[in-house]
Amino acid sequence: MERKTILEFLGDDWIRTGDLIRSSLDSDIELLNWTNGYILEHAGKQLRPMLSLLMARACGTGTLTGDTVRYAAAVELLHNATLLHDDVADGSKTRRGVPTVASILDPTHSVLLGDYWLVKAVGLVLDADDNVMEVVRLFADTLTRLAEGEMFQLQKASSGDTSEEDYLRIIGDKTGSLFETACLSAAISVGASAGIRQVAREYARNLGLAFQIKDDILDYDGGDIGKPAGVDVRERKITLPLLGALRRADDALQAEIREKVRQVGEHPGFAEDVIEFVRDYGGTAYAQERLLEFSQHAKDSLAPLPDTPAKDYLVALATFTEERKR
Ligand code: IPE
Ligand code: IPE
Ligand code: MG
Ligand code: MG
Repeated sequence: MERKTILEFLGDDWIRTGDLIRSSLDSDIELLNWTNGYILEHAGKQLRPMLSLLMARACGTGTLTGDTVRYAAAVELLHNATLLHDDVADGSKTRRGVPTVASILDPTHSVLLGDYWLVKAVGLVLDADDNVMEVVRLFADTLTRLAEGEMFQLQKASSGDTSEEDYLRIIGDKTGSLFETACLSAAISVGASAGIRQVAREYARNLGLAFQIKDDILDYDGGDIGKPAGVDVRERKITLPLLGALRRADDALQAEIREKVRQVGEHPGFAEDVIEFVRDYGGTAYAQERLLEFSQHAKDSLAPLPDTPAKDYLVALATFTEERKR
């Protein structure tokens, strides 16, 4: 499925979302306009607002509301805010094939800019015509989960004992939560019933998990991902490809590899050993299997929705998540 086909299907709603993102960032501070323009010029996949608009159409009976567009824009602003912070946390020098704001300017600029985009997202939600308190609560809960996910990830990086259960909690919070908010706020914006909202949430939760697992596979597989590969192990993050490889190792080797991850700061060469271990023990194949379970679950959970082109595109986005190379 071509991205272009989905954007054409979304038509005016897609244009309105982009316009709202741009206008909400407008400022008379030259430095802000330059940095905002730089990020908008290298916009990424914009998957989350696509999801919002598709889900609103799949749940609704007709035209989207102004609130649908506001939430779609807010979700993308919030996503970019988390990346501006994440690139500081991970020390990443490139994203979307270009240098990060943190590397062109410095981490301080990136953090402050992230705050700006975050607050602009909140502002859009506060402008909503209906259900303001409910959606503000939803976004507040998401922000809590994003921060908790990142903090729990840091805690586990230092203890080095991440289990698969811990990993799923981390990615559900740091990535799945925003997918859930994209889809659930969209369903709310078109007045979907409680049952249909639950469908939207279930699809998004599973898609979000699949999406982050793929990101973690790409971190090992390299390829042209527009951002540095091998970052996760260097940041002592134990992700699913590594957990998959560890499952096939004996106790002694498991302990040795976990110790190497813990000490990668003092011994940068250990990163290569761990990457080789993941390759030799089929770690990414294991992660891909789990990813397929989650994306299949996402597709299956759409069954209660009426058959519409929007629903077909939601299925196509899950397939894209299974296969994507960046
Ligand atoms: C990157 O998200 C961060 C993750 C949650 C994996 P995307 O891969 O959606 O990033 P962009 O916006 O397309 O660059
Ligand atoms: C996702 O994790 C980050 C957020 C949800 C903010 P990563 O750290 O793996 O994302 P990338 O790989 O830098 O895009
Ligand atoms: Mg990162
Ligand atoms: Mg990553």
